[in-house]
Amino acid sequence: MDNEKKIVLSGIRSTGHLHLGNYYGALRNFVEMQNDYKCFFFIADYHSLTTQPDPALLNPSVRSILAEYLAAGLDPDKANIYIQSDVPETCEFYTLLNMHAYVGELEKTVSFKDKVRKNPNNVNAGLLTYPVLMAADILQHRADFVPVGKDQVQHLEMARNYAVRFNHFYHTDLLKEPRPFVAQGEPIKVPGLDGSGKMGKSEGNCIYINDDDKTVIKKVKKAVTDMTPTEQNSPMSDPIKNLFYFLQLVSTQEIYDQYLAAWNDCSIRYGDLKMQIATDILKVTTPIRERYNEIYADSDYLNKVAAQGAEAARESCRKTLKAMREIMGFKHF
Ligand code: TYM
Repeated sequence: MDNEKKIVLSGIRSTGHLHLGNYYGALRNFVEMQNDYKCFFFIADYHSLTTQPDPALLNPSVRSILAEYLAAGLDPDKANIYIQSDVPETCEFYTLLNMHAYVGELEKTVSFKDKVRKNPNNVNAGLLTYPVLMAADILQHRADFVPVGKDQVQHLEMARNYAVRFNHFYHTDLLKEPRPFVAQGEPIKVPGLDGSGKMGKSEGNCIYINDDDKTVIKKVKKAVTDMTPTEQNSPMSDPIKNLFYFLQLVSTQEIYDQYLAAWNDCSIRYGDLKMQIATDILKVTTPIRERYNEIYADSDYLNKVAAQGAEAARESCRKTLKAMREIMGFKHF
């Protein structure tokens, strides 16, 4: 029965706690998909080293993300949950795939150019080949679908290109072309409430799913607003659009419509809108946070989940890797 299910693979880097961008862009989809697909959800700890190579931060970070996955509703009896570095096959796959990835195209990747601009003193080769490692994560499982936020769509396209290029070069159909997956419509971008384009660690504007009530309220209250609307049905500025975007994510349609009507007739009070958003964020995050503390403290359980996930992931990867080695000409005498 399991063999008939489509395969889903996705991951989140282990850099501190998960924020609402990770949750709405990725994790929420993971939880929804685990009932219907054969799922591999992992913690990308190799990827985190490209920007955060501090050994003291690595283990606590991996542990908290694993606990957050579980607290958000990932079930190890339904989905294979593993830590990237527990699957050494990925490194071999990455090495082999690197031979078909071109430096020119890697240098043009939006996320690479962005990281170079933000951190010109740490332009390591891992950063350059980040999309190849990501492609290895995906292609080694022959994944059909990959739930990701909008910022990862280019990386996913590259994974597809590598699959096509490899298959074409070796006259094979071994590698599957993965497609992005979101429950509704297109991959999303959760904005920052500071008026910036996106919520993200390097943007320093995150609301974490582990933030307590006071912190969430404080962060939302600080959201950028302006003097609009000054006349009925006027165009909405970007910071206000961001607030409404958030409202749509966390509140009911009825509440959203109510605030939109208040915007349109200029009776809106941003203080009320912000409290509404903060309250509705907390409705989503509080149960996760409460479960998180208990799970984080349970080392035996976390180790068991990770070991079980690693075993399943390794078995899945070994099959593809074995075929890949043969296709590329690695044979015994
Ligand atoms: P990371 O940790 O940067 O992001 C993890 C997931 O969260 C999504 N995301 C967002 N979605 C919407 N709005 C936002 N503001 C926002 N911020 C983050 C990202 O799109 C992503 O889906 N490179 C991956 C990790 C990875 C991976 C993979 C993912 C490594 N190998 C293989 C899928 C398949 C990443 O961006 O992590």
